[in-house]
Amino acid sequence: MKPQEILDALQWRYSVKKFDAGKKIEESIWQNILDAAVLTPSSFGLQPWQFLDVRNVELREKLVLASYGQKQVAESSHLLVLTCKKTMDQAHLDRFLAVSQKIRKANAMAIIGENGATDYAGENFKAITLSFIQSLSAEQNFIWNANQIYIVLGNILTVAAMLGIDAIPMEGFEAEKYNEILHIDKNYTAKLVVPFGYRSAQDKNATYNKVRFDKSEIVKII
Ligand SMILES: Cc1cc2nc3c(=O)[nH]c(=O)nc-3n(C[C@H](O)[C@H](O)[C@H](O)COP(=O)(O)O)c2cc1C
Repeated sequence: MKPQEILDALQWRYSVKKFDAGKKIEESIWQNILDAAVLTPSSFGLQPWQFLDVRNVELREKLVLASYGQKQVAESSHLLVLTCKKTMDQAHLDRFLAVSQKIRKANAMAIIGENGATDYAGENFKAITLSFIQSLSAEQNFIWNANQIYIVLGNILTVAAMLGIDAIPMEGFEAEKYNEILHIDKNYTAKLVVPFGYRSAQDKNATYNKVRFDKSEIVKII
């Protein structure tokens, strides 16, 4: 995409209040959005999340009530619930290191040859990361994980806009009810909800101008 086309897509994007319930996102495009979510960067690369692609229609109806009546949860084409890990722990770190070791071993061998490949296991990395995790209080640990979910949000909203897919980011829902209705793994909690699809022609919000502070007030050149 050209720079102006990217900006046009970001101008075109808005938070959809009413979706066209009859219009579905093509599966390959939807998979692009999920791939963008998976490719999101995270602190230390630990990916403290799981993404729920909620396709069950009855469950989505139930979620409307747990979302203060926001119907986009049921009327959109697709619904993604972004969950975060409640506590980052050594078990998660070890799981990450095992995957990392497998993937990076190939890199290391390609660069320095099998005999020289000693650092791909990341022992230093493990010590630093573990000591950081252990320095956090339970609350700080949760907030740290939860903050990562907003990076996913930014990524998928932008990618969706570039693909011509509408969405709305939602914090307005009851996480405990979501956890219950969707039987979310007890180590995770629902953090953000993002319905995706196509705007309804009746959604007046699509015609409203964007409200943003002037760029000169936000961007400071130092
Ligand atoms: C983290 C986050 C949570 C939000 N939660 C809701 C929500 O629950 N319901 C809603 O109608 N809009 C929600 N919004 C949409 C914002 O109100 C909207 O992004 C903002 O007014 C800017 O408008 P725009 O997205 O159309 O540019 C949320 C936005 C963000 C980033």
